[in-house]
Amino acid sequence: MTATIPGKVAVIYYSQSKVRNTATVAQWIAKHTGGTLIELEMAEPYPEPYSATLKAVGKDFRAGILPALKNMPNLDGYDVVFLGSPIWYGTYALPVGTFLKGNPLAGKVVAPFCTHGGGGAGRFAADVRQACPKAKVLDELVIRGSNQIERRMGLGVSVRHTENDVVEWLNRIFNQ
Ligand SMILES: Cc1cc2nc3c(=O)[nH]c(=O)nc-3n(C[C@H](O)[C@H](O)[C@H](O)COP(=O)(O)O)c2cc1C
Repeated sequence: MTATIPGKVAVIYYSQSKVRNTATVAQWIAKHTGGTLIELEMAEPYPEPYSATLKAVGKDFRAGILPALKNMPNLDGYDVVFLGSPIWYGTYALPVGTFLKGNPLAGKVVAPFCTHGGGGAGRFAADVRQACPKAKVLDELVIRGSNQIERRMGLGVSVRHTENDVVEWLNRIFNQ
């Protein structure tokens, strides 16, 4: 049984790749919490394929640019915010950085989750905590996404992980 979540729940995330690892996990969380699913979208999306994405993101990273978002969701009225991102260079993706700069989630309970390509979550949790100093940040969920070989085969995050990982995490962070 999934834990009871105190308050109104939003599941906000950014997902870049065609495999949509982070979106998949976000959908699992929304299903098990009844939360409102909100996807962050860029005003001008990074290009695909993967090599072009890496090039464009690398340029913004080096220049310290946070890309503009198409939507800046209003989270007034939400108490619990699940915040999801792919890992980019050991931390959250740049569009998530844009969101957090505009909305540092003060006063909210924040449950961070991420997907990565095998390098682990890096500074993700520490960086979310730093970006949300006035939020109560719970322990993060880290999911290993697909690697390049699986990508070529058209397989996604479900190869290794299931909804059960989400259910166990929810029970851990809300029923302690
Ligand atoms: C620009 C960029 C940087 C990345 N940096 C890392 C990294 O530092 N460590 C890692 O394990 N995976 C890294 N990845 C892989 C993604 O974190 C991984 O594929 C993720 O599951 C993609 O989620 P998405 O499908 O929601 O976009 C990177 C991917 C991109 C596009």
